[in-house]
Amino acid sequence: MTDSKHKGALGAAYAAKRPEDVAALYDRWSQTYDSDMSAAGYRHPTICLALLARHLPRGSAPLLDAGAGTGLIGEWLDIAGYPEVEALDISQGMLDQAERKGVYSALHCLALGGPLPFADNAYAGVISAGVFTSGHVGAEGLDELIRICRPGGVIALTVKNTIWDLGFNARVAELEAQGLVTRIEETRPYVSMPGEADTVPSRCLALRVN
Ligand SMILES: C[S@@+](CC[C@H](N)C(=O)[O-])C[C@H]1O[C@@H](n2cnc3c(N)ncnc32)[C@H](O)[C@@H]1O
Repeated sequence: MTDSKHKGALGAAYAAKRPEDVAALYDRWSQTYDSDMSAAGYRHPTICLALLARHLPRGSAPLLDAGAGTGLIGEWLDIAGYPEVEALDISQGMLDQAERKGVYSALHCLALGGPLPFADNAYAGVISAGVFTSGHVGAEGLDELIRICRPGGVIALTVKNTIWDLGFNARVAELEAQGLVTRIEETRPYVSMPGEADTVPSRCLALRVN
C-alpha cells in the first residue's frame, strides 16, 4: 500500500462505526499492514511488550494477544520467552497473516467489547496493542479481559487518549477501588506512529489482576 493509501486505511479504521466495517477494512489491509506500520515507526508493540515482560515472569502461560492483528507481538513474545500465546482478532484476514508466522497456539476470530467464550482465569496474561483506540474498542472491552486473566496475572494494553478520557481511566479507577485490579505501571503519553501527522497520543498501562 502506498503511504497515502496507508493513511487512508488508518483514518477509515478510526472512523469506522460498526465492527463488521472494522473487520472488512483490516481484511483488505492485512497483506501490507506490517510494512506500512514499520514505515510509520509504529511503537505500540515494543512498548506493550516491555511492560508485560517487566511484570509477568518469563514462561508464564498461556497468554492472550487480544487484537493480535498480523501477529507483530506474537513473534516477539515467542523470542522473549513466553511459550504459549493465543491470538484473538475481529479480522480473519489479519489472523491469516498471524497464522503464517507460526507462533500462536490458537487463533480466535472474535470481537472484543462483548462476552468472550473463555473460562474465568483462563490466561496468565493478556497483551493488547493498538486496539483500545478510536473506532475499535473502548472501556467496555476491559471487564472481560480481567475476567479471563487469572489472579496475579498481568494485562498490558495501550489506550489512546480519546478512549482514556471517554471512560477508560474512570473504569480502571472504579475497578481499583473495588480491589479487582492494581495499576502497576502507566507510561507517559506518547505518539504511537511518529511517521504520522497529528496523531493523538496514547499510553501503555499494566494492570495486575487481584
Ligand atoms: C492497529 S491494529 C493492532 C494489531 C496488533 N496488535 C499490532 O499491534 O500490530 C488493530 C487490530 O484490532 C483489531 N480489532 C479492531 N476492533 C476489534 C474488536 N472489536 N475486537 C477484536 N479485534 C478488533 C483489528 O482487526 C486490528 O487487527
